Amino acid sequence: MSQDWTSARGRTAIGRVALSVPARQALADGQLRPERTVLDYGCGRGDDIRSLQSLDCCVEGWDPYFRPDSRPTKSHVVLLTYVLNVIEDPEERLQTLQHAWQLASTLLVVSARLTWESSKVQGREYGDGLLTSRRTFQHLFAAAELRRYVEEATGARVIAAAPGVVYAFKDEAARLSYLAYKVVPDAEWLMSADTASALDSLVDYAQQRGRLPRIEEMPRKTAELLAHLKPADLRRLTLQGADPGLIAAGAKRTTLNTLLYLAVELFNGRGPFGNLPVSVQQDIRSFFSSYKEACRRSDRLLLKLRDDQYVRGAMHASLAGKLTPTALYVHRRALEQIPTVLRLYEHCASIAAGRPAEWTVAKLRHQGRAVSWLDYPRFDQDPHPRISSSYGVDLQTLEAKHVSYSDATNRPLLHRKHEFLEPNDPAAPRYRRLTEAEVRAGLYQNPQLIGTENGWEVELARCGRQLRGHRLVRRPGNT
Ligand SMILES: C[S@@+](CC[C@H](N)C(=O)[O-])C[C@H]1O[C@@H](n2cnc3c(N)ncnc32)[C@H](O)[C@@H]1O
Repeated sequence: MSQDWTSARGRTAIGRVALSVPARQALADGQLRPERTVLDYGCGRGDDIRSLQSLDCCVEGWDPYFRPDSRPTKSHVVLLTYVLNVIEDPEERLQTLQHAWQLASTLLVVSARLTWESSKVQGREYGDGLLTSRRTFQHLFAAAELRRYVEEATGARVIAAAPGVVYAFKDEAARLSYLAYKVVPDAEWLMSADTASALDSLVDYAQQRGRLPRIEEMPRKTAELLAHLKPADLRRLTLQGADPGLIAAGAKRTTLNTLLYLAVELFNGRGPFGNLPVSVQQDIRSFFSSYKEACRRSDRLLLKLRDDQYVRGAMHASLAGKLTPTALYVHRRALEQIPTVLRLYEHCASIAAGRPAEWTVAKLRHQGRAVSWLDYPRFDQDPHPRISSSYGVDLQTLEAKHVSYSDATNRPLLHRKHEFLEPNDPAAPRYRRLTEAEVRAGLYQNPQLIGTENGWEVELARCGRQLRGHRLVRRPGNT
């Protein structure tokens, strides 16, 4: 096979010291479980295989250059990691993807290098990509192109798990449970050592979720400790121990989360009730008159996302986040506190383009539909955090854009940090005090200047102030 290649594909495989980004993503998303077999298709030098084996994954690999003698076998999960972008023949590229898809019984994880890396790849034009001086080929994908390409080749509903990493599920139940994991994380269970602590954990669950769990939703240890109690007794004891106000708040939260989940599911393709994860089925039975009613309400929610006035109203009503003339900016810690329609907005963008691993603030535009994830790595340490990168997607065109500020000399920075958070965030009072001191010192008198590092320094000097941590102090020589 390798004789037919017109590029030196073997040279594209690097030695890895750590697990690749796509394999790490799939691991973090709970997709590489011990009971699932994994095939690394186009595994290169095999470093991901070794790392995953050391994590007790049942993984094998195949590569036409490095392991031509093994045979790729059908597996639950197939990883196709940075393979498509090195194949110079478009027909073979498509066949490779389709073959990988045939080999997967649950999930295919496809990753490719993205166009935002184009400054790192030099070469002459060749076919639909570039041939480098080492005779390696690269077709860099736009994020939307990768998702569409995999969708068309597999016929599956594709989810962007991260920029440049997409999931095509063959198993519908696995897709729906992945969406649930992303949208409505399971309630946390307290540890149970005896019947009394198992009951405490049940009370805690009921207060978080607004309902009692079914036995199959409990951790095994808790279920074993409570198995001797009749369901009616279990119910009575739990309700006796729980705070009714917290149960009601839990029920409201779960109802909204279920609507959010079903709306996200509609955005990615709705499945039958029986394929939903057991916990979501149970939430629907507990808080809606029927699945049909739940779907009708969630469809309305998705429709509201198109309504500018409604979205703007939700942004005004949001207790968390900073509203500007163009967008709502919300800190990662506050994202679950914003109105459900806005959470849906962010989730739809994430499914379309993949939420990056590193981000601090989500920006939701109120004109048009576009979401960006902005990274301020020192948000909590720096009184005026500097941006390091932004990645965003326009939901109308599905075009994604990445901007790195690592070489920028005059980076944008943030003010009034508490506004990005929810009012109850433990850090908010300290940030608010700093803002008030800055306002009193006259530092916000020229808003057009203070948005970038240089302008902010000029204003600090003009007002005779400097920052010491989150305290504003006079500059030496200014009394
Ligand atoms: C950039 S490397 C990636 C290797 C590995 N997946 C990793 O991420 O470390 C691309 C690999 O794709 C393999 N490859 C090339 N053509 C292929 C094809 N038609 N089917 C499967 N793998 C192929 C190459 O041999 C090379 O090892």
